[in-house]
Amino acid sequence: MPTRRKMAAGNWKMNGLAEALSELDTLDATLPRPRCDVLLCPPATLLSSMAALAKGTAIKLGGQDCHWQEKGAHTGDISAEMLADAGAVAVIVGHSERRADHGEDDATVRAKAEAAHRAGLTAIICVGETGDDRDAGRTLDVVGAQLDGSIPDNADAAGTIIAYEPVWAIGTGRTPTLGDIEEVHRFIRARLTDRFGDAFGDAVRLLYGGSVKAGNAAEIFEIADVDGGLVGGASLKASDFKGIVDAA
Ligand code: G3P
Repeated sequence: MPTRRKMAAGNWKMNGLAEALSELDTLDATLPRPRCDVLLCPPATLLSSMAALAKGTAIKLGGQDCHWQEKGAHTGDISAEMLADAGAVAVIVGHSERRADHGEDDATVRAKAEAAHRAGLTAIICVGETGDDRDAGRTLDVVGAQLDGSIPDNADAAGTIIAYEPVWAIGTGRTPTLGDIEEVHRFIRARLTDRFGDAFGDAVRLLYGGSVKAGNAAEIFEIADVDGGLVGGASLKASDFKGIVDAA
């Protein structure tokens, strides 16, 4: 039986001023010894301060995006190395909001994941279908193509996490049925096993994202191939996120 440690990851997106730092203290105080990995991905502006606060706690930090190059003339961009330097251990790449707002395609996402790996960061690679894709019965085709195109050929399971986030479930309060979540996660693991082998397929962690709340986290995290969640809105308040960490 594979023993994959569950993960509760929070993606704060473009939310959080300095006052949000207190959420980390509150979370740490209420969760001194979480049974799962806890990762917070704040905006880059808060990363260093949060890393200082998180020292010695069980809470790890991640970035929300990175550039695919190490340095150079890329005004406004942040490299994976810079995130690592600021205290991150992971970075989200290919979030659907980046794919939609910044036109990022699978090749770009793959290059970003490679940059994350070069910097020693775990790449949390996001995939997921739109509502139109789902209605047209294209979910597995779309997710399969994103997996094929976005994951580097030399990816290792320890440094790679896949987040399945149906675009239509993000921030909407709507989630797929448990059966649908199970089907897509089973499909993802099988696809990765085919490409990278059994050891990778057994070890790689798959997170579900899209309207995860304290109230639905336990039933979602119980699904066989779901190894935790990537949480947006419900990760902003420590009191809400605690319920999700407890469920993982
Ligand atoms: O990356 C997490 C995310 O897109 C899900 O957002 O607010 O639906 O939990 P939310």
